[in-house]
Amino acid sequence: MKKLYLIGNFKMNMNLSELRPYLKSYKKVAKRAANSTGICVPYVYLDYVSRALKGSRAIYGVQDMYYQDHGAYTGEISPSMLQDYDTKLVIIGHSERRAMFGDTDEIVNKKLTTALKYGFTPILCFGETLEEREAGKVTAVIKKQLTKALAGLTKADGGKIFFAYEPIWAIGTGVVPTTEQLSKVVKQIRSIITKILDTTDDEIKLLYGGSLKPSNAKQILAINGVNGGLIGGACLKMEDFKSIIYENVE
Ligand code: 13P
Repeated sequence: MKKLYLIGNFKMNMNLSELRPYLKSYKKVAKRAANSTGICVPYVYLDYVSRALKGSRAIYGVQDMYYQDHGAYTGEISPSMLQDYDTKLVIIGHSERRAMFGDTDEIVNKKLTTALKYGFTPILCFGETLEEREAGKVTAVIKKQLTKALAGLTKADGGKIFFAYEPIWAIGTGVVPTTEQLSKVVKQIRSIITKILDTTDDEIKLLYGGSLKPSNAKQILAINGVNGGLIGGACLKMEDFKSIIYENVE
């Protein structure tokens, strides 16, 4: 079995009364998944999650981060604040942030560079819209997003990043790419990244995200070049998340 990373993205979901029993179960589930599962939670629960998961094998993190250390940035959260809670994962450039909260490729690059500087494991999200796919622009869109996001980074940085291919049309829709579609794009993504960072294919950790659930996880995660999943909706239901983890990690 290849090593797979299964990371949950809570998005803006869960409150404390839901989180309590969730974390209790998750701690047990994570025992089976030696350091290869994690959750990215809303900032306000970071302290709670860091305490609850202490001593567990699960890693945790957040869904965004600002690229300045401190200052007059009302509403933002800085990398040094995240360090106070032993944060490991930081999602950068999720399509929802790009579409709704103004995260441009340039901002994504600044956040990614900063996350690496502070020693986090960034999860860099990218992917095309349905219109872009239908117009035959998948490779061009991904190449542009990756080139801009990775500007100024090195080969060594590449090995510290989780690359998360999330086709926007698959997020929250129940629709997933076919094995052929995904295999093709995975090869392209890997080739683009190796060229930009002058790195080797085996250094790249590539996750897939978009409607990943118990019924399709096995098939998607088995695809050559896919090293795991970034899971939205299905990570909120412990039964679903657990089943994806138990069936796919050693
Ligand atoms: P869904 O699994 O709900 O489609 O969300 C995927 C995602 O956006 C993870 O970051």
